[in-house]
Amino acid sequence: PINLHGRSVLSLDDLEAEEIRHLLRLAADLKVAKLGGYEVPRLTRKNIALIFEKDSTRTRTGFEVAAYDQGAHVTYMGPTGSHIGHKESMKDTARVLGRIYDAIEYRGFAQSAVETLKTYSGVPVYNGLTDVSHPTQILADLMTMREFTHKHLSDMVVTFLGDGRDNVAMSLALGAAKVGIDFRLVSPTALWPDQAFVDHVKSQAWKSGGKFALMEHVGSGVLGADFIYTDVWLSMGENESAWAERIRLLSPFRVTAQVIEATENPYVKFMHCLPAFHNTETEVGARIAKEYGIDCMEVTDQVFESHASIVFDQAENRMHTIKALLVATIGS
Ligand code: CP
Ligand code: NVA
Repeated sequence: PINLHGRSVLSLDDLEAEEIRHLLRLAADLKVAKLGGYEVPRLTRKNIALIFEKDSTRTRTGFEVAAYDQGAHVTYMGPTGSHIGHKESMKDTARVLGRIYDAIEYRGFAQSAVETLKTYSGVPVYNGLTDVSHPTQILADLMTMREFTHKHLSDMVVTFLGDGRDNVAMSLALGAAKVGIDFRLVSPTALWPDQAFVDHVKSQAWKSGGKFALMEHVGSGVLGADFIYTDVWLSMGENESAWAERIRLLSPFRVTAQVIEATENPYVKFMHCLPAFHNTETEVGARIAKEYGIDCMEVTDQVFESHASIVFDQAENRMHTIKALLVATIGS
Protein backbone atom coordinates (compact mmCIF):
# COMPACT_ATOMS: atom_id res chain seq x y z
CA PRO A 1 0.00 0.00 0.00
CA ILE A 2 1.11 3.56 -0.73
CA ASN A 3 1.63 5.74 2.32
CA LEU A 4 2.71 9.35 1.86
CA HIS A 5 2.06 10.39 5.45
CA GLY A 6 4.64 12.92 6.64
CA ARG A 7 6.21 13.27 3.20
CA SER A 8 7.64 16.55 1.87
CA VAL A 9 7.55 17.35 -1.83
CA LEU A 10 10.41 19.67 -2.71
CA SER A 11 10.68 18.32 -6.25
CA LEU A 12 9.19 15.43 -8.20
CA ASP A 13 12.24 13.43 -7.17
CA ASP A 14 10.51 13.09 -3.81
CA LEU A 15 7.79 10.95 -5.41
CA GLU A 16 7.99 7.53 -7.05
CA ALA A 17 5.91 6.98 -10.20
CA GLU A 18 3.43 4.84 -8.26
CA GLU A 19 3.06 7.61 -5.66
CA ILE A 20 2.36 10.18 -8.39
CA ARG A 21 -0.33 7.90 -9.83
CA HIS A 22 -1.77 7.45 -6.34
CA LEU A 23 -2.01 11.24 -5.88
CA LEU A 24 -3.69 11.60 -9.28
CA ARG A 25 -6.29 8.96 -8.40
CA LEU A 26 -6.90 10.61 -5.03
CA ALA A 27 -7.25 14.02 -6.69
CA ALA A 28 -9.80 12.60 -9.15
CA ASP A 29 -11.78 11.07 -6.26
CA LEU A 30 -11.68 14.32 -4.30
CA LYS A 31 -12.81 16.27 -7.37
CA VAL A 32 -15.82 14.00 -7.90
CA ALA A 33 -16.67 14.16 -4.18
CA LYS A 34 -16.53 17.95 -4.14
CA LEU A 35 -18.67 18.27 -7.27
CA GLY A 36 -21.09 15.69 -5.87
CA GLY A 37 -21.35 17.51 -2.55
CA TYR A 38 -20.15 14.59 -0.42
CA GLU A 39 -16.57 15.54 0.33
CA VAL A 40 -15.38 14.23 3.69
CA PRO A 41 -13.01 16.54 5.59
CA ARG A 42 -9.77 14.78 6.54
CA LEU A 43 -7.77 17.82 7.58
CA THR A 44 -9.76 19.11 10.54
CA ARG A 45 -7.65 20.85 13.20
CA LYS A 46 -4.67 21.02 10.82
CA ASN A 47 -2.87 24.34 10.33
CA ILE A 48 -0.80 25.08 7.26
CA ALA A 49 1.64 27.97 6.76
CA LEU A 50 1.74 29.39 3.23
CA ILE A 51 4.92 31.36 2.55
CA PHE A 52 4.99 33.39 -0.66
CA GLU A 53 8.13 35.37 -1.41
CA LYS A 54 6.83 35.70 -4.99
CA ASP A 55 3.30 36.53 -6.17
CA SER A 56 0.70 33.87 -6.91
CA THR A 57 -2.91 33.48 -7.96
CA ARG A 58 -3.40 29.72 -8.54
CA THR A 59 -0.99 28.23 -6.04
CA ARG A 60 -2.15 30.43 -3.19
CA THR A 61 -5.87 29.98 -3.86
CA GLY A 62 -5.33 26.29 -4.62
CA PHE A 63 -3.75 25.71 -1.21
CA GLU A 64 -6.26 27.92 0.60
CA VAL A 65 -9.42 26.41 -0.88
CA ALA A 66 -8.06 22.85 -0.68
CA ALA A 67 -7.37 23.41 3.01
CA TYR A 68 -10.75 25.04 3.73
CA ASP A 69 -12.69 22.32 1.86
CA GLN A 70 -10.96 19.74 4.03
CA GLY A 71 -11.43 21.58 7.32
CA ALA A 72 -7.88 22.94 7.77
CA HIS A 73 -6.75 26.50 8.48
CA VAL A 74 -4.05 28.44 6.68
CA THR A 75 -1.87 31.47 7.35
CA TYR A 76 -0.74 33.38 4.27
CA MET A 77 2.67 35.02 4.68
CA GLY A 78 3.51 37.33 1.79
CA PRO A 79 6.75 38.98 0.68
CA THR A 80 6.38 41.51 3.51
CA GLY A 81 4.83 41.37 6.95
CA SER A 82 7.00 38.66 8.52
CA HIS A 83 10.69 38.54 9.49
CA ILE A 84 11.52 35.87 6.91
CA GLY A 85 14.62 36.61 4.90
CA HIS A 86 15.57 40.04 6.17
CA LYS A 87 15.55 39.71 9.96
CA GLU A 88 15.25 35.97 10.57
CA SER A 89 17.00 33.13 8.76
CA MET A 90 15.13 30.34 7.01
CA LYS A 91 16.63 27.89 9.52
CA ASP A 92 15.17 29.77 12.49
CA THR A 93 11.89 30.38 10.64
CA ALA A 94 11.63 26.64 10.00
CA ARG A 95 12.12 25.81 13.67
CA VAL A 96 9.45 28.31 14.69
CA LEU A 97 6.84 27.31 12.11
CA GLY A 98 7.48 23.61 12.73
CA ARG A 99 6.34 24.15 16.34
CA ILE A 100 3.15 25.90 15.31
CA TYR A 101 2.03 24.34 12.00
CA ASP A 102 1.35 20.85 10.70
CA ALA A 103 2.80 21.63 7.26
CA ILE A 104 4.48 24.46 5.33
CA GLU A 105 4.15 25.55 1.71
CA TYR A 106 6.93 27.73 0.33
CA ARG A 107 7.16 29.75 -2.89
CA GLY A 108 10.30 31.72 -3.53
CA PHE A 109 13.66 31.80 -5.20
CA ALA A 110 16.29 29.27 -4.13
CA GLN A 111 15.61 25.54 -3.95
CA SER A 112 17.83 25.54 -0.83
CA ALA A 113 15.07 27.47 1.01
CA VAL A 114 12.62 24.55 0.79
CA GLU A 115 15.39 22.15 1.73
CA THR A 116 16.20 24.20 4.84
CA LEU A 117 12.52 24.35 5.78
CA LYS A 118 12.26 20.58 5.48
CA THR A 119 15.42 19.88 7.43
CA TYR A 120 14.64 22.16 10.37
CA SER A 121 10.83 22.29 10.65
CA GLY A 122 10.15 18.59 11.16
CA VAL A 123 6.83 18.89 9.29
CA PRO A 124 5.95 18.22 5.62
CA VAL A 125 7.11 20.98 3.29
CA TYR A 126 5.65 21.57 -0.18
CA ASN A 127 7.45 23.48 -2.91
CA GLY A 128 4.97 26.00 -4.32
CA LEU A 129 7.53 27.10 -6.98
CA THR A 130 11.21 27.94 -6.85
CA ASP A 131 13.56 29.17 -9.56
CA VAL A 132 14.20 25.58 -10.66
CA SER A 133 11.11 23.56 -9.78
CA HIS A 134 7.30 23.62 -9.63
CA PRO A 135 6.20 20.11 -8.66
CA THR A 136 2.59 20.81 -7.64
CA GLN A 137 1.95 22.36 -11.08
CA ILE A 138 2.95 19.12 -12.75
CA LEU A 139 0.57 17.04 -10.63
CA ALA A 140 -2.27 19.22 -11.95
CA ASP A 141 -0.95 18.94 -15.50
CA LEU A 142 -0.77 15.15 -15.41
CA MET A 143 -4.30 15.02 -13.99
CA THR A 144 -5.52 17.30 -16.78
CA MET A 145 -3.78 15.23 -19.47
CA ARG A 146 -5.55 12.14 -18.19
CA GLU A 147 -8.90 13.92 -18.34
CA PHE A 148 -8.44 15.01 -21.96
CA THR A 149 -7.32 11.78 -23.62
CA HIS A 150 -8.28 8.16 -23.43
CA LYS A 151 -4.59 7.29 -23.35
CA HIS A 152 -2.56 6.08 -20.41
CA LEU A 153 0.18 8.51 -19.38
CA SER A 154 2.73 6.05 -20.75
CA ASP A 155 1.19 6.31 -24.24
CA MET A 156 1.15 10.11 -24.44
CA VAL A 157 3.37 12.43 -26.44
CA VAL A 158 3.97 15.80 -24.78
CA THR A 159 5.99 18.67 -26.28
CA PHE A 160 7.16 21.74 -24.39
CA LEU A 161 8.11 24.70 -26.60
CA GLY A 162 10.18 27.55 -25.19
CA ASP A 163 12.74 28.16 -22.48
CA GLY A 164 14.39 24.84 -21.64
CA ARG A 165 15.61 26.15 -18.28
CA ASP A 166 12.17 27.29 -17.17
CA ASN A 167 11.11 25.85 -13.81
CA VAL A 168 7.87 24.44 -15.21
CA ALA A 169 9.62 22.97 -18.27
CA MET A 170 12.19 21.19 -16.13
CA SER A 171 9.62 19.86 -13.66
CA LEU A 172 7.41 18.71 -16.52
CA ALA A 173 10.37 16.90 -18.10
CA LEU A 174 11.07 15.12 -14.82
CA GLY A 175 7.43 14.30 -14.12
CA ALA A 176 6.92 13.02 -17.67
CA ALA A 177 10.03 10.86 -17.40
CA LYS A 178 8.80 9.36 -14.13
CA VAL A 179 5.41 8.30 -15.48
CA GLY A 180 6.62 7.06 -18.87
CA ILE A 181 5.53 9.87 -21.20
CA ASP A 182 7.25 10.44 -24.59
CA PHE A 183 8.43 13.99 -23.81
CA ARG A 184 10.15 16.47 -26.10
CA LEU A 185 11.74 19.68 -24.88
CA VAL A 186 11.98 21.96 -27.91
CA SER A 187 14.15 24.96 -27.19
CA PRO A 188 17.03 27.00 -28.66
CA THR A 189 20.34 25.34 -27.72
CA ALA A 190 21.34 28.48 -25.78
CA LEU A 191 18.49 27.72 -23.35
CA TRP A 192 18.90 23.97 -22.97
CA PRO A 193 19.07 22.72 -19.39
CA ASP A 194 22.44 21.60 -18.05
CA GLN A 195 23.83 18.15 -18.76
CA ALA A 196 23.49 16.83 -15.21
CA PHE A 197 19.74 17.54 -15.31
CA VAL A 198 19.39 16.00 -18.78
CA ASP A 199 21.23 12.85 -17.65
CA HIS A 200 19.00 12.59 -14.60
CA VAL A 201 15.79 12.95 -16.61
CA LYS A 202 17.03 10.40 -19.15
CA SER A 203 17.78 7.90 -16.41
CA GLN A 204 14.25 8.34 -15.04
CA ALA A 205 12.75 7.92 -18.52
CA TRP A 206 14.80 4.79 -19.05
CA LYS A 207 13.45 3.32 -15.80
CA SER A 208 9.80 4.06 -16.67
CA GLY A 209 9.92 3.18 -20.37
CA GLY A 210 9.35 6.85 -21.24
CA LYS A 211 11.37 8.96 -23.66
CA PHE A 212 13.14 12.28 -23.30
CA ALA A 213 14.34 14.25 -26.32
CA LEU A 214 15.99 17.65 -26.32
CA MET A 215 15.29 19.25 -29.70
CA GLU A 216 15.71 22.46 -31.62
CA HIS A 217 13.45 21.80 -34.59
CA VAL A 218 9.84 22.80 -33.93
CA GLY A 219 8.28 20.79 -36.80
CA SER A 220 9.68 17.42 -35.77
CA GLY A 221 9.25 18.26 -32.08
CA VAL A 222 5.51 18.76 -32.33
CA LEU A 223 4.64 16.07 -34.89
CA GLY A 224 2.24 13.58 -33.31
CA ALA A 225 2.00 15.45 -30.00
CA ASP A 226 -1.07 14.97 -27.82
CA PHE A 227 -0.25 18.08 -25.79
CA ILE A 228 1.67 21.25 -26.63
CA TYR A 229 2.83 23.06 -23.50
CA THR A 230 4.53 26.42 -23.10
CA ASP A 231 5.36 28.93 -20.37
CA VAL A 232 6.44 32.56 -20.10
CA TRP A 233 9.78 33.53 -21.61
CA LEU A 234 10.89 35.34 -18.47
CA SER A 235 10.05 34.02 -15.02
CA MET A 236 9.31 35.86 -11.80
CA GLY A 237 12.55 37.10 -10.30
CA GLU A 238 14.47 37.17 -13.59
CA ASN A 239 15.87 40.51 -14.69
CA GLU A 240 13.72 42.38 -17.21
CA SER A 241 16.89 43.34 -19.08
CA ALA A 242 16.81 39.79 -20.47
CA TRP A 243 13.58 40.43 -22.43
CA ALA A 244 15.29 41.48 -25.68
CA GLU A 245 17.47 38.37 -25.82
CA ARG A 246 14.61 36.04 -24.83
CA ILE A 247 12.29 37.49 -27.48
CA ARG A 248 15.01 37.12 -30.10
CA LEU A 249 15.80 33.53 -29.10
CA LEU A 250 12.27 32.33 -28.40
CA SER A 251 10.06 33.94 -31.06
CA PRO A 252 10.52 30.91 -33.38
CA PHE A 253 9.19 28.73 -30.53
CA ARG A 254 5.92 30.64 -30.04
CA VAL A 255 2.82 28.44 -30.08
CA THR A 256 0.86 29.57 -33.14
CA ALA A 257 -1.98 28.04 -35.17
CA GLN A 258 0.70 26.70 -37.55
CA VAL A 259 2.41 24.90 -34.68
CA ILE A 260 -0.90 23.33 -33.63
CA GLU A 261 -1.50 22.25 -37.24
CA ALA A 262 2.01 20.83 -37.52
CA THR A 263 1.18 18.27 -34.82
CA GLU A 264 -1.07 16.60 -37.46
CA ASN A 265 -3.23 15.60 -34.50
CA PRO A 266 -6.81 16.95 -34.72
CA TYR A 267 -7.26 16.26 -31.00
CA VAL A 268 -4.09 18.03 -29.82
CA LYS A 269 -4.52 20.19 -26.71
CA PHE A 270 -2.73 23.37 -25.70
CA MET A 271 -1.44 23.72 -22.13
CA HIS A 272 0.08 26.55 -20.09
CA CYS A 273 0.63 26.80 -16.34
CA LEU A 274 -0.48 30.47 -16.45
CA PRO A 275 -0.20 33.42 -16.19
CA ALA A 276 0.28 33.76 -19.98
CA PHE A 277 1.32 36.60 -22.29
CA HIS A 278 -1.20 35.88 -25.07
CA ASN A 279 -2.22 39.51 -25.70
CA THR A 280 -1.42 43.00 -24.51
CA GLU A 281 -4.23 43.37 -21.98
CA THR A 282 -2.03 43.32 -18.90
CA GLU A 283 0.21 46.14 -17.73
CA VAL A 284 3.41 44.15 -18.20
CA GLY A 285 2.23 42.61 -21.48
CA ALA A 286 1.37 46.00 -22.91
CA ARG A 287 4.68 47.53 -21.90
CA ILE A 288 6.87 44.72 -23.27
CA ALA A 289 4.77 44.34 -26.40
CA LYS A 290 5.03 48.03 -27.19
CA GLU A 291 8.76 48.11 -26.60
CA TYR A 292 9.39 45.16 -28.94
CA GLY A 293 6.56 45.67 -31.42
CA ILE A 294 4.79 42.35 -30.82
CA ASP A 295 1.24 41.50 -29.75
CA CYS A 296 1.90 38.34 -27.75
CA MET A 297 4.79 36.36 -26.37
CA GLU A 298 4.83 32.57 -25.94
CA VAL A 299 1.37 31.86 -27.42
CA THR A 300 -0.97 33.68 -29.78
CA ASP A 301 -4.33 34.84 -28.52
CA GLN A 302 -5.93 32.67 -31.21
CA VAL A 303 -4.44 29.45 -29.81
CA PHE A 304 -4.98 30.50 -26.20
CA GLU A 305 -8.69 31.11 -26.83
CA SER A 306 -9.18 28.10 -29.12
CA HIS A 307 -11.07 24.89 -28.38
CA ALA A 308 -7.70 23.15 -28.11
CA SER A 309 -6.83 25.20 -25.05
CA ILE A 310 -7.26 23.45 -21.68
CA VAL A 311 -5.43 26.02 -19.56
CA PHE A 312 -8.33 26.72 -17.21
CA ASP A 313 -8.86 23.01 -16.59
CA GLN A 314 -5.23 22.89 -15.53
CA ALA A 315 -5.82 25.87 -13.24
CA GLU A 316 -8.81 24.19 -11.59
CA ASN A 317 -6.90 20.97 -11.16
CA ARG A 318 -4.19 22.81 -9.21
CA MET A 319 -6.68 22.89 -6.33
CA HIS A 320 -7.74 19.24 -6.59
CA THR A 321 -4.16 17.94 -6.80
CA ILE A 322 -2.91 20.19 -3.98
CA LYS A 323 -5.82 18.88 -1.92
CA ALA A 324 -4.75 15.31 -2.68
CA LEU A 325 -1.20 16.13 -1.60
CA LEU A 326 -2.41 17.67 1.67
CA VAL A 327 -4.76 14.78 2.44
CA ALA A 328 -2.11 12.17 1.62
CA THR A 329 0.65 13.79 3.66
CA ILE A 330 -1.12 15.22 6.74
CA GLY A 331 -4.69 13.87 6.50
CA SER A 332 -6.34 11.55 8.95
N1 CP B 1 0.70 28.32 -12.34
C1 CP B 1 0.94 28.96 -11.17
O1 CP B 1 1.71 28.53 -10.32
O2 CP B 1 0.26 30.12 -11.03
P1 CP B 1 0.40 31.19 -9.86
O3 CP B 1 1.74 31.90 -10.06
O4 CP B 1 -0.77 32.09 -10.04
O5 CP B 1 0.39 30.47 -8.53
N1 NVA C 1 7.98 30.11 -15.04
C1 NVA C 1 6.98 30.90 -14.37
C2 NVA C 1 5.90 30.02 -13.84
C3 NVA C 1 4.80 30.74 -13.10
C4 NVA C 1 3.76 29.81 -12.54
C5 NVA C 1 7.64 31.71 -13.26
O1 NVA C 1 8.47 31.15 -12.55
O2 NVA C 1 7.36 32.89 -13.16
